[in-house]
Amino acid sequence: MPYAIPHDGPFGQMLEATGRHPWRPAHLHFMITAPGFETLITHVFRKNSDYLDSDAVFGVRQSLVCDWAPQPDGSYQLTYDFVLNRAQDRADESNAQHGR
Ligand SMILES: [Fe+2]
Repeated sequence: MPYAIPHDGPFGQMLEATGRHPWRPAHLHFMITAPGFETLITHVFRKNSDYLDSDAVFGVRQSLVCDWAPQPDGSYQLTYDFVLNRAQDRADESNAQHGR
């Protein structure tokens, strides 16, 4: 379900000044860990949710939007391929940038 982020105080004033609303589209948060890989923290948005084109915090990327299939028991099933970076990859990139 879409929800509104807290919009009282300074952030609410900023939203009002910029003519923006406080709503976020429906999404699920994930934190995925595996030995030898970098931890992935992300969220996946529900296709056709309200506010996909105007997320209050600019978090929507098309690559993070997928269909959530309603199930008979009232839950949803989503299929999404999460890709983890090997922990070594980051060290290799850093070494390459520093000419090592
Ligand atoms: Fe959230």
